[in-house]
Amino acid sequence: MSIKEVSFLILCLLLCQKATSSCECCSEEISSKATIVNRIINVLTKGNEAGVTYNELEKFVDKFGPRMTGTETLENSIDYMLDLLRRNGLNARTEEVEAPFWIRGEEYAEMTKPWPKKFGVLGIGLSVGTNGANISAPVLVVTSFEELEERRDEVQGKIVVYNFKFKSYGVSVKYRSQGASRASKYGALAVLVKSVTPFSLYTPHTGMLNYDQTVPKIPAACITVEDAELIHRLSKRDNVSVRLFMGAKTLDKPAISRNIIVDIKGWKYPEEVVIVSGHIDSWDVGQGAMDDGGGAFVSWRALAVIHNLGLKPKRTLRAILWTGEEQGLWGAQSYIKVSLTPRHKNEIDNISIAMESDIGTFRPLGLTFSGTNPKSQCIVKHTLELMKAINATELVLGVEGSDIVLFNEYKVPLASLNNDHRTYFYYHHTNADTMLVENSTNLDTCTALWAASSFVFADLNHKLWR
Ligand SMILES: *[C@@H]1O[C@H](CO)[C@@H](O)[C@H](O)[C@H]1NC(C)=O
Ligand SMILES: *[C@@H]1O[C@H](CO)[C@@H](O)[C@H](O)[C@H]1NC(C)=O
Ligand SMILES: *[C@@H]1O[C@H](CO)[C@@H](O)[C@H](O)[C@H]1NC(C)=O
Ligand SMILES: *[C@@H]1O[C@H](CO)[C@@H](O)[C@H](O)[C@H]1NC(C)=O
Ligand SMILES: *[C@@H]1O[C@H](CO)[C@@H](O)[C@H](O)[C@H]1NC(C)=O
Repeated sequence: MSIKEVSFLILCLLLCQKATSSCECCSEEISSKATIVNRIINVLTKGNEAGVTYNELEKFVDKFGPRMTGTETLENSIDYMLDLLRRNGLNARTEEVEAPFWIRGEEYAEMTKPWPKKFGVLGIGLSVGTNGANISAPVLVVTSFEELEERRDEVQGKIVVYNFKFKSYGVSVKYRSQGASRASKYGALAVLVKSVTPFSLYTPHTGMLNYDQTVPKIPAACITVEDAELIHRLSKRDNVSVRLFMGAKTLDKPAISRNIIVDIKGWKYPEEVVIVSGHIDSWDVGQGAMDDGGGAFVSWRALAVIHNLGLKPKRTLRAILWTGEEQGLWGAQSYIKVSLTPRHKNEIDNISIAMESDIGTFRPLGLTFSGTNPKSQCIVKHTLELMKAINATELVLGVEGSDIVLFNEYKVPLASLNNDHRTYFYYHHTNADTMLVENSTNLDTCTALWAASSFVFADLNHKLWR
């Protein structure tokens, strides 16, 4: 999950709500699919597909580890996936994507005054480095952009430390994304940002930033919640100084990667598409098992299970494993974004719904749905009623997602995997994003929800109304 979705998350915080009203559309047609839905659920929860999603994900993330855009590892993992998909009898192809080519390089940060202490640190993605030198400077701690404005006269020549109070990811991530340029405006040399998480066992979190092109680009790194709090406490009584080194740089040439596209062709409306997706790239820490190995794997596994059951929907069911997501949704931009003459622009009217899982594959609860057309909301509601066996019947209304939010420009209905992700941001963009976050039972039920709901949408007589 990257930075671009943040405004939508905020929107979701404000506007997402559980849908309660009753509705009339298409209930008989949808009920008639209960047998198929139950076959999908059964084969995943107690049949020969049970445990497969977890096992395949484990093999994948343990073989490759993290898969940052620009790395050979990511491209090798894409080749591995193509082979795996084809061995599963699926029709898979790739499309080339260009993304910013950011390299972390060596990095460290330490306190030098009032006493020496090394910090756990992760440079923020797309940050500039420190030009091969150490930046050593006194710190100014602020808890908000408002405080930064009030104390702007104190910023010159300092390293600004953001020790905000975590509210929610959507609200607090602005310090990571905008903190550098906001402080640079008043002459800061660098910024250290408290990791954006509600919980920490001394884990620094990375992520992406956006530079304001009108002020100098200064280095930015995340430190742990513990160290941000420590610096803040110390700074009330003492002068605190820190030293920062970052070898980070963005290369002049773009990184070249590939989206993976897997199709089960519709037998009746082959040009109309239902998309299920997740992203295959990750940051360069942990294993990218949760963000977004889980989402990518429930998506291709949904198609594999449907294929293995010999089911054929009326519409084309397409799994997309996006690349370049973390640096700014570059895979989805190349697929759809209006300003970039994207490859699939002429398809837009024929996309019935675009679904993405990029907020965890914990215990599934249902779907979050963006569509405002009452008939389409009804379709999703009735479809979720078929998910009682896995207790995943909850419809939440609102826009959520990462890559798929780009489809929102065209009013394509979006759905994301609504799951019990209360701990998602504990692990997000950290070295703790490993296979230990994943759970085989939950991956099976998430795959079941994903496969069954996308199959129903793809098999309806009518595509979703906008
Ligand atoms: C930066 O500081 C560290 C710690 O004092 C030192 O080991 C290192 O050589 C310095 N690096 C440069 C480029 O000056
Ligand atoms: C902090 O540094 C300033 C400027 O160098 C100095 O005036 C002040 O006495 C120092 N405060 C402490 C607590 O050492
Ligand atoms: C959209 O789908 C319809 C059939 O449902 C087809 O006639 C039309 O060519 C498709 N458009 C594109 C751009 O694929
Ligand atoms: C079903 O989900 C609801 C809401 O998430 C939860 O309160 C309940 O405990 C779950 N029931 C079972 C049997 O898992
Ligand atoms: C996995 O999740 C299931 C269902 O949510 C739970 O019952 C089980 O204890 C979990 N397994 C592990 C190993 O945590």
